Order: sequence, then C-alpha cells, then structure tokens
Amino acid sequence: MDSVATAPPPPPAHVAIIMDGNGRWAKLRGLPRIAGHRRGAEAVRRTVQAAAEFGIGYLTLFGFSSENWKRPIGEVDDLMGLLRHYIRAEIAELHARGVRVRIIGERRRLAPDIVTLIDKAEALTGGNGGLRLTLALSYGGRAEIAAAARAIAQAAVQGRLAPEQVDEAVFARHLFTADMPDADLLIRTSGEQRISNFLLWQSAYAELVFTDTLWPDFGKADLEKALRDFHGRDRRYGASVGSR
Ligand code: IPE
Ligand code: IPE
Ligand code: MG
Repeated sequence: MDSVATAPPPPPAHVAIIMDGNGRWAKLRGLPRIAGHRRGAEAVRRTVQAAAEFGIGYLTLFGFSSENWKRPIGEVDDLMGLLRHYIRAEIAELHARGVRVRIIGERRRLAPDIVTLIDKAEALTGGNGGLRLTLALSYGGRAEIAAAARAIAQAAVQGRLAPEQVDEAVFARHLFTADMPDADLLIRTSGEQRISNFLLWQSAYAELVFTDTLWPDFGKADLEKALRDFHGRDRRYGASVGSR
C-alpha cells in the first residue's frame, strides 16, 4: 500500500491574480513605466501557459481597474496600446492552445476598436474547452456589484423577479462572473497587501497569497509556490476546526 504514490492535490479551480509592480520594476532599472508594462505582458504569457500546465480551470487576471483611468493620459494610452498589441499578437496562439478568453469590466469605457478586438477574441475562442482565461479590464468590484443591484432592481420593477427571490445565488448570476466558480486562490504581486477593488464578491473565501515578486518577474516557479501555499491552507468556510 505504501508503495502507491500519493496523488498530487487537485489544483484550485479558480486562481485570480492582481498583477502589480510594473512601474516599480521599471523604476528600479531607470526605465519608463511602459517598459515595465511591456515586460508585464510577457509575464502574462508565461503565467497563462503555466496555469494550463498545472491544470487550473479558471485564471482571472486584473489588467486595468476602473480606478486606473485616473492615471496620466499618456500612461493610459500606453496601456491601451499594449492591450491592443497583446490581443492581436496572442489570440491565435491562445486559440490553438484551446484557451477560452473572456473579458470582464466596463466595456463601454474602452475604445471601440478594443471592444471589437475583444468581441472577436471571445467569439473565436468561445467554443474552446481548455483554460478559461478572464481578463479584468476597466473592472471594479464595487461597480460590478452596483450594476448587478441595478439589473435586479429593474427585473423587480418589471415584475420578472420578486424581492423575496433575491438570494446569494440570484445575485451571483447578475455578476460578470455568472458562470464561473468563486476565486479559490487570490495572488497579489509586488508586496502590496490589499484587494484594490478586485473580485470583491467572488473572493469572499479565497485564500490570499502575497508575494514580493514584481509582476514582470512573475513566472511558473512563483505560481507553483503560490499553489503550494494554497495546498497548505485549511479552508474552513466558517466551520470549526476538524468539523468537516
Ligand atoms: C500594475 O503595475 C499594472 C497596472 C495597474 C495597470 P503598476 O503600474 O500598478 O505598477 P506599480 O504599482 O506602480 O509598481
Ligand atoms: C490594482 O493595482 C489594479 C491592477 C493590478 C490592474 P493598482 O496598482 O492600481 O492598485 P493600488 O493603486 O496600488 O491599490
Ligand atoms: Mg500598482
């Protein structure tokens, strides 16, 4: 019996990452912030591949927050340019790997040509059965929750939904992530220890892993380390120790 190797624990179904530290990575090298963002896009490529190799079902990456619109116009333009480039350059490869791509966030704030690129990427990969890659762009957790509340209120006013029917499951179905499992593991790079308005509802019971690695340096080994941390945690969901 002892000779039977212990199977590795199953990977978390949904890993979410706050990709932070591009600006500091560039500053440390005396480079403009855009250089950090460019290297950050390469880290996205590595991480997506590693996540698929580890058998993660859902990977959600925070690329641009609702609040990031407050940054100087030059940096916002650089980031949007990089986003266009990333989608154009990567989509065929992602599709070939069976990755299903979707975007969550306030689409109407993005430039029309970016929305078109996103629509095409989602349509092209919509039937794929591999890694579910979600990019959060112009995304804010509070805005998402407010939009869900608005939709629910409208449904109630129109008589399609009775207020008594509104429970957690109904609410969750009105979020961008309606058909996704909650986040199991939430990683933030660059040493900051805050959520910054990411997946507020969906990370209610996520295990949090903070790493000092700056996002442009993040790769397979960092993801593996975060998964090890995750497997060492005891998820109790409010139950008492040992009661499950
Ligand atoms: C993360 O890196 C990328 C975005 C938020 C768009 P930052 O640009 O926030 O880098 P730091 O935090 O200034 O180092
Ligand atoms: C969070 O990082 C948003 C993204 C990673 C896209 P920020 O760098 O914008 O967050 P704060 O300002 O440090 O909280
Ligand atoms: Mg930052």
